[in-house]
Amino acid sequence: MDTLARRAFFQFLAASPLYSQPAPIITKPDEAINVFDFELAARQILPPAHFGYLQTGVVDDATLRANRTGYDLYQLRPRRLIDISKVDLSLTLFGARHETPLLLAPIGNQGAFHPEAELPVARAAAAQKTMQILSTMTNNSVEAVNAAAGRPVWYQLYATGSLTVADRLWRRAEAAGCPVLALTVDTQAGRNTETAERSKRLDTRKCVTCHDPAPGGFFKRKAMFSGLDMAGIPTANAALTWDFVRQLRQSTKMKLLIKGIVTHEDARIALEHGVDGIIVSNHGARAEESGRGTIECLPEVIDAVGGKMPVLIDGGIRRGTDIFKALALGATAVCVGRPYIWGLAAFGQPGVEKVIELLRAELTLIMKQCGRRSLAEINSSALAPTKFAPR
Ligand SMILES: Cc1cc2nc3c(=O)[nH]c(=O)nc-3n(C[C@H](O)[C@H](O)[C@H](O)COP(=O)(O)O)c2cc1C
Repeated sequence: MDTLARRAFFQFLAASPLYSQPAPIITKPDEAINVFDFELAARQILPPAHFGYLQTGVVDDATLRANRTGYDLYQLRPRRLIDISKVDLSLTLFGARHETPLLLAPIGNQGAFHPEAELPVARAAAAQKTMQILSTMTNNSVEAVNAAAGRPVWYQLYATGSLTVADRLWRRAEAAGCPVLALTVDTQAGRNTETAERSKRLDTRKCVTCHDPAPGGFFKRKAMFSGLDMAGIPTANAALTWDFVRQLRQSTKMKLLIKGIVTHEDARIALEHGVDGIIVSNHGARAEESGRGTIECLPEVIDAVGGKMPVLIDGGIRRGTDIFKALALGATAVCVGRPYIWGLAAFGQPGVEKVIELLRAELTLIMKQCGRRSLAEINSSALAPTKFAPR
């Protein structure tokens, strides 16, 4: 090889992603370039068992990967010479104005990630004008979270093994002013979270802040269960059917969403039951190992719903372009899960805020680049199917 050829080869190598160094771990939120910087920081700070609980999918984590790679099935068709000096990300959802189409998905047991659990998230969501969905497995009460958020949040419901308990839970959320109830229906069968199990074995740290030391005990401080006799009552209800949805629809004044729908068959049944919306979700790939990313499930659900109610989506959303693609396929809004928890674990409230800011900035940028000035202007003409095998 002569000198010139060798120089060209080394220049090629230096520019190659294969040669790139691992990103340094950030020490403050403002150093983050994208949400993955928070993932590295969270990994560094959390005990392996907690990080494993956060990151795990199920079985081989194939669905977890599909939630990400599904976004590579679509490419974008940018448009030029459109006045994009003003871009509006707002929307009206269930009668309320939202600044952006981004919500924070319900994540249980946030005490595993921060001593104050859901409260810094509530403050961050309020500061960033973003809606938080509070898990049934919250470590703080709905009243405390609403107070921290300065307004009622949305509430996520597990029907639990006892429908009497489920009734008490949603009635308490309704009394606290929560405007929207999201009934999660995708973990009824149980699940095989192998990555979480393996991570536990790596953990030698004794955790007293959030674990119940009793045999079989998991995270404690289940604030919403206090005062309820939960002895022998599992959180998943194997016998749950659409009958419960019918009862719930008749009983609650809250807007009712079903979280965990991934097929057109179930979307149609949900519509027949008069629910107000659907969240296309596979629980962040923590339910069954279907191998199917949620973005791949979205079109059939959108088709079945036919514009009769809002359809939200979550799972693997890490980039503004992911949000853009989901909206272009017909989603009304999106939820993110793990990224804001990475922010919470690493830096508390400022970390959560920065994650929201980054995603909003990326969405704004791609909207401008594609010549879309409002969410209403984002449609399927912005997309092209990927012709070659995704990277
Ligand atoms: C650690 C963890 C806990 C979760 N807890 C709940 C929960 O209590 N209720 C629920 O409906 N979904 C729960 N989910 C699923 C999320 O609401 C959401 O569907 C998922 O995180 C979205 O995928 P993403 O993390 O890839 O953004 C949890 C997810 C994670 C990662």
